[in-house]
Amino acid sequence: MYHFLTGPALWIVFAVFIGGLMTRLAFLIGLSRERDRVFYNHADLTWGFKSIFYWIIPWGSDAMRRQPVFAFMVFLLHIALLAVPLFLNAHNLLWHEAFGISLPSLPDTVADGLTVALIGAGIFLLVRRIVRPEVRILTSTWDYTLLILTLLPFVTGLCAYHQWGDYPTMLLLHILSGQVLLILIPFTKLGHMLLFFFTRAFIGFEMGGRRKARSW
Ligand code: HEM
Ligand code: HEM
Repeated sequence: MYHFLTGPALWIVFAVFIGGLMTRLAFLIGLSRERDRVFYNHADLTWGFKSIFYWIIPWGSDAMRRQPVFAFMVFLLHIALLAVPLFLNAHNLLWHEAFGISLPSLPDTVADGLTVALIGAGIFLLVRRIVRPEVRILTSTWDYTLLILTLLPFVTGLCAYHQWGDYPTMLLLHILSGQVLLILIPFTKLGHMLLFFFTRAFIGFEMGGRRKARSW
């Protein structure tokens, strides 16, 4: 099972993840060129890049400054979400075994700390969705499910690393939950990992290029 999941299954997962994101992007670009002509006559890359920039730095936008704790938690979640899977020593060993290449590795204690921080931030965001009426009304069961599915590889990875529970089972659950998440990204709102940059750029030049107003 382990060899299947880290062998052929992993190839399929990465093919779906990358192929799915590219296809979705190509489809949306095609649709936008057909339907959003009116946007393009004010396309302005400077406003577009500025809009992206102020939304990817902590408290860079007015909306984030108005909800500083929430903004902090979203950043904590995303920093760990990107850094741990990419720079974890155990993952890099697997890359090295498979392709002979690897990325720089974070010390295990740092990766472990970031994992715990991410789980904390995720629970905060989950509870916030439940207790704040104005957010709850916008939240569907699928939104809760996606947030939980995002946390699952981190919870199982943490348990495997600390050998909590039965190690082989935990490792399998970890790999499975990681693969499910990677497959879901292109087909759900988690596709924002790529689409975010396009939406922000569009809002940036629609507000800036057309109305000379900041969108951050
Ligand atoms: C899909 C294939 C994956 C494989 C084969 C894999 C494999 C592993 C292995 C072998 C470990 C170390 C367990 C130990 O120390 O014994 C680990 C830990 C971990 N992995 Fe993965 N992983 C995968 C995907 C993911 C994904 C997609 C994420 C996150 C989105 C993730 C996050 C983590 C975390 C957070 C830890 C534990 C870090 C810690 O607390 O020290 N993994 N993984
Ligand atoms: C570099 C790429 C990414 C960027 C720029 C980004 C940006 C964002 C932004 C702006 C939000 C909305 C925060 C708000 O409600 O104001 C968000 C939410 C979220 N992102 Fe990302 N994201 C990225 C990658 C990812 C990835 C790879 C995942 C998961 C696999 C992910 C999972 C989430 C989740 C679960 C939420 C919702 C949190 C909640 O329920 O409140 N993001 N992201």
